[in-house]
Amino acid sequence: MLRFAEEILLLILDDVSGEFARVPKWPLSCALAGGVLMDLALENRIDTDLERLFLHDPTPVGDDLLDSVLTGISESPETYDARYWVQHTAENADRIRERALERLVERGILEHREERYLWVFRSRRYPAVDGKADREVKLRIMSVLFSDEIPDPRDIAIVGLADICGLFKVLLSKRELEHATMRIAQVGKMDLIGRAVSWAVQEPRTPREKRTAHVVGSATQLPSPGNLAAVSSEGKEFVIANVDGRYYAVDGLCEHAGARLIDGGLKGCQITCPRHRWTYDMSDGRIVKPPLARRRTRSYSVRVNDGMVELVPTV
Ligand code: FES
Repeated sequence: MLRFAEEILLLILDDVSGEFARVPKWPLSCALAGGVLMDLALENRIDTDLERLFLHDPTPVGDDLLDSVLTGISESPETYDARYWVQHTAENADRIRERALERLVERGILEHREERYLWVFRSRRYPAVDGKADREVKLRIMSVLFSDEIPDPRDIAIVGLADICGLFKVLLSKRELEHATMRIAQVGKMDLIGRAVSWAVQEPRTPREKRTAHVVGSATQLPSPGNLAAVSSEGKEFVIANVDGRYYAVDGLCEHAGARLIDGGLKGCQITCPRHRWTYDMSDGRIVKPPLARRRTRSYSVRVNDGMVELVPTV
């Protein structure tokens, strides 16, 4: 099976002349990078939610097009969102492009021809050997664009990537493009909606009735800048941080194994559990380390009402 990066190159290739359509470099680089990341996701090595891309399984896929990117993600000391990884990977898009082209030649899909003109300048062309593979990719895309059927995830992904690098302007006539514009947007949304739904299912909203404020004591209990304070209400402990005069609060017990976060360390807006060093962003409760993107602790906004401190769940 071809990888997304290979399919993108086939899409922009004129199979007879063996020349690539003129596509702006950075969007194409991002599309190639996004293709590698999508393949890693389909191989269950990485996953993303609306905020972060995280490592699911560091085991190499055994595919050199994907494994160097996987290594970069698994060795990264920090967790970043998908956009960061697309941009970061896109900086090496030339390498991805060259390797994808080599593989297409190795598989007998393209032929590599190197020519000279004016006796000095070299030009490379990659005419298709029999045009079957690139015809198949183009046909798949066309059937997604010009039918009402629900496409499969691979087709949704490739339509999204082709759209990102402005490929439809090259692939479709003006009339076809007008006809397909709504469908391109619709298919693009399927991916976003799919992600949003999966995120929402993994992390259901706190029911509205539970979003009532917890009154945790008088304002004199609020911590001074750079410090933490433990407060409680109805037997439940919370921890409040003062970060440069702004207050943040999260549940007082660690999501991992229940250690008291008040005994942990505060750095900026992040609190680290004293026991196994899980780190939470107190502004929204996200677990920053380790990168378990789908878990979080509950966070609260802090307000003072009639001299009493109230904590209101933020979600
Ligand atoms: S109890 Fe907090 S990290 Fe294990």
